[in-house]
Amino acid sequence: MTEVIIVRNEDEAGEIYARCVAGLIKAKPDCVLGLATGSSPLAGYRHLARLVKDEGIDVSGVRGFALDEYAGLDPNHPESYRSVITRTVVEPLGLDPAKVHVPNGNLDTIRDAGHEYDAAIEAAGGVDVQILGIGTDGHIGFNEPGSSLASGTRIKTLTEQTRIDNARFFDGDIDQVPTHCITQGIGTIMKARHLILMAFGDGKAEAVAETVEGGVSSLCPASVLQLHPHATVIVDEAAASRLRNKDYYRWAYAHKPAWQGI
Ligand code: GLP
Repeated sequence: MTEVIIVRNEDEAGEIYARCVAGLIKAKPDCVLGLATGSSPLAGYRHLARLVKDEGIDVSGVRGFALDEYAGLDPNHPESYRSVITRTVVEPLGLDPAKVHVPNGNLDTIRDAGHEYDAAIEAAGGVDVQILGIGTDGHIGFNEPGSSLASGTRIKTLTEQTRIDNARFFDGDIDQVPTHCITQGIGTIMKARHLILMAFGDGKAEAVAETVEGGVSSLCPASVLQLHPHATVIVDEAAASRLRNKDYYRWAYAHKPAWQGI
């Protein structure tokens, strides 16, 4: 079953993620982190950076792979996912930039970039923990509704809704939001050994309910988490508001023995 943890706020969710990943880095100093952009993972990165500093955790061997990138956007653009990952993860944590990879959205090479990216993840031994946000339409990475649940990293066309949602990063102007992207496929994401999806606010409530308690369907790409052997969904009260089994999730987490781990 997908474990659902209902927290008070993003900070509490961030702490849970940070404790989990800090423990992983200590146990496996060359672990592979799956990284995501968007606002949902930010508290997790912030808390992880604090733990790394406070506990003097050596992160020099940590490797990372981001989920996605806009197609044709200059990697130096402040909203390219290369820039966002550098700003929110690589720099605050002090990771070695050479060990952190983002799909290459350069239009000249994009047709081969997907296969190469999947091969690089595989050569690294696969992702240990993949953090995920979720789009209001249930997308993960940039796998929009209708994406193959077995897909590898590839070019995708963004939906109008995703471009509207992301216009806030481009001066509120949808015309500046790229129309295409390169994203890890759902099959790629599913190979990660542990998935942690975070969602906050009532705008995500419907997508979360579909993900956890709806049928598994490409119409809600995140619902594929139900097929993953180790998936954790961390949500605040607002994002949890449409879950039918809320009381059970709450009870299970409140009574979770320490030995069960995350
Ligand atoms: C973008 C990213 C996704 C992210 C989503 C939600 O579409 N490609 O990886 O999950 O935004 O972002 P937020 O967490 O800001 O709501």
